[in-house]
Amino acid sequence: MSGAVRHWALIPAAGVGRRFGAEVPKQYLALAGRPVIDHAIAAFIGHPAIAGCAVVLGSADGWWSDVSAYANHPDVLRAPGGAERCHSVRNGLTALADRAAEDDWVLVHDAARPCLRRSDLDRLLAALREEPVGALLAVPIADTVKRADAGQVAETLPRSALWRAYTPQAFRLGLLRRALAQAQARDVVVTDDASAVELLGLRPALIECQADNIKITRPEDLPLAAFYLQQQQLDVQGRSG
Ligand code: CTP
Ligand code: MG
Repeated sequence: MSGAVRHWALIPAAGVGRRFGAEVPKQYLALAGRPVIDHAIAAFIGHPAIAGCAVVLGSADGWWSDVSAYANHPDVLRAPGGAERCHSVRNGLTALADRAAEDDWVLVHDAARPCLRRSDLDRLLAALREEPVGALLAVPIADTVKRADAGQVAETLPRSALWRAYTPQAFRLGLLRRALAQAQARDVVVTDDASAVELLGLRPALIECQADNIKITRPEDLPLAAFYLQQQQLDVQGRSG
């Protein structure tokens, strides 16, 4: 195939939401009139730069087909989940490889992260033109951070160098496949995609985003996400009014 490099979204959604503790995995809870996962997918589907989207679902998933408006969307393909997030992402990459080229960009974005702004996604996409390795959205840490040892402070870490890693995290399909395969071969369970690429000795770029791009982890995060979505809506109305 010839032509420009394309961009794909990969949404890992095979987690069970243990820390949240609801009966339904958190990505299927209702938020502002639709499931959390639909907010995450909506940021990509319909974006002119995104060619398609892979959604990774757990084997016991009985919700996707019933609740997601994207269940039968022609640009959304499904992949089976794995034991940890990194295994789920690997499966999603395998599914994408049928349609995507080795050099295409894959933007991995948590299903549980429903407040991604179009402006932050566009900033990440723009950064990829300058970043050969890849890039991730991130937020500088605002609090002072301590390293603990047996319940006491062992060290105060220099805050200016610390960032929270968010998603999307964007890498070339081929590179991310190799990176995750090598992490698994070394028995390292990475909690984000950049960590696997870092293990290869490469340095992804940190792209600062708004702090409202939160991941829903615990029950108190759901009303916070609803509040952020409402504020984003007001921002949009304010601009067009
Ligand atoms: N995820 C996945 N496959 C796994 C584990 C997690 O696809 N085996 C996905 C989750 O569905 C979520 C994202 O990775 O969208 C981030 O993971 P996390 O916030 O840890 O979600 P859960 O694993 O569901 O939550 P917990 O760790 O509290 O059980
Ligand atoms: Mg988890």
